Amino acid sequence: MPAYSPGFRSLDAEHDDLALDMEGEIPAWLSGSLVRNGPGQFEVGGERVEHWFDGLAMLHKFRFGGEDGTDGGVFYSNRFLRTEAYREAVEDERITSQFATSGSYLDQLKSFLSDPTDNANVNVARIGGEYAALTETPRRVRFDPETLSARGELTFADDMTVHHVTAHLRHDDRRGETVGYATRFGRKNRYLLYRVLDDQPAGGRPSRVPIASLEVEEPAYLHSFALTPQYVVVVEPPFVVNPMRFLLPGRGGFIDNFRWKPERGTRFLAFDRESGNLAIERTAPPFFFFHTVNAFESRAEDGESGELVVDLVAYEDASIVEDLFMSSVEGEEKAGEATGGEPNPGPVLDAAKGELARFRVPIDGGRVDRRNLYTGMELPRIAPRAGMEPYRYAYGQATAREGQNGLAKVNVETGEATEWWEDGFYAGEPIFVPKPADGEGGGGEKQAPEDRGVVLAPALDTESEDSVLVVLDGESFDELARAHVPHHIPFGFHGEFFPEVTS
Ligand code: CO
Repeated sequence: MPAYSPGFRSLDAEHDDLALDMEGEIPAWLSGSLVRNGPGQFEVGGERVEHWFDGLAMLHKFRFGGEDGTDGGVFYSNRFLRTEAYREAVEDERITSQFATSGSYLDQLKSFLSDPTDNANVNVARIGGEYAALTETPRRVRFDPETLSARGELTFADDMTVHHVTAHLRHDDRRGETVGYATRFGRKNRYLLYRVLDDQPAGGRPSRVPIASLEVEEPAYLHSFALTPQYVVVVEPPFVVNPMRFLLPGRGGFIDNFRWKPERGTRFLAFDRESGNLAIERTAPPFFFFHTVNAFESRAEDGESGELVVDLVAYEDASIVEDLFMSSVEGEEKAGEATGGEPNPGPVLDAAKGELARFRVPIDGGRVDRRNLYTGMELPRIAPRAGMEPYRYAYGQATAREGQNGLAKVNVETGEATEWWEDGFYAGEPIFVPKPADGEGGGGEKQAPEDRGVVLAPALDTESEDSVLVVLDGESFDELARAHVPHHIPFGFHGEFFPEVTS
């Protein structure tokens, strides 16, 4: 068993606003709540789920008191997301269609078509004024940010039919909208891009407004996309499916039907946000990815049309998907038939090789340029205000060492990195929280540096088997404080800081 195995252990305890033991000092300005999502339970009816993405959703909340609150304290709450999937799993001890006996995540994905799960364990977001837990099925679960109680499904007033969605929506403060992406499978398959305006009629359900769509013969597995002021950028790796395969019996699960076709290359598809036109289509040498980091348009000054800059964490191929089976993360033999059950060389979470890379896509044609910036990164984040424009810093989980995961702050202009490591600690997604600007107005004031603020990340101490929340200074990347959770927190995926959630 790898040292990090407590990260894949179920958690029974639920807490409500528990004051955590602290080391160090939290900046007095830090006020609001970090809400994180991830699996909390990995067994159903005594059986272990097969894929990391299958555990039952649990929300975790770290509330920071702020100056007017409780004086630098951190208060922890956590709660299983009470969904249909949760009730069936816990009350009936039943592995439902989304937890099939072979290749559970894969079958879960397959069931996207007919019986999608509401086990929303991937991310959280605020959409049209509602807080929601998200996964890759169209079923989003509303929750109360104070109590973390589930409040039923978030449904839309429109009738857009989609099957596979991104759990990584992009919010555009300037336009006041959230942009999303989905795939519709059928005799014709489509990528669908839409917006949800922040301003929604009071009391009603929010509506998705179509931006663009594209018919594709073989849709790719897409986890996230990129947004610039002018474009929605879909990066399409050659990990694709012929959806007719879904209809054939004995074909295994959803992802089993996807094929790595490197000869297709990876396509960059940029849709104009106003007209919906497919404005840019370029093919680069093949790579796979889960997470984009940021994107922006770089305008040339000499009258040329410039380029799209897209930063993401790239992998050589799609084998990472298979690597995240529980059997692999636990250092046992791989489960997938694609590998022929070959013994896994070691715990796959050690020394994973995500490559933070910058892609330059010339708007008027020409070759896509790739530059690698940092080796061994996942779960990348940026400062909220750095989105969609030239920026300097990406923050991420650092994965290049064995026996630990650290945190990294990478200067994306130079590739220079500052890191945080601690022996035997496995850190998760780091979320940057900007320090609010001093004073009102700001007319004529110099804007604060992009990295002025703190970085918040959970980390598992494999020796004590408990977790901490570490608070790093955004500029120096020095640790300012850590808050001790009285148990482990299973490895999760994504979260968000909500400054307005102060109780
Ligand atoms: Co993700």
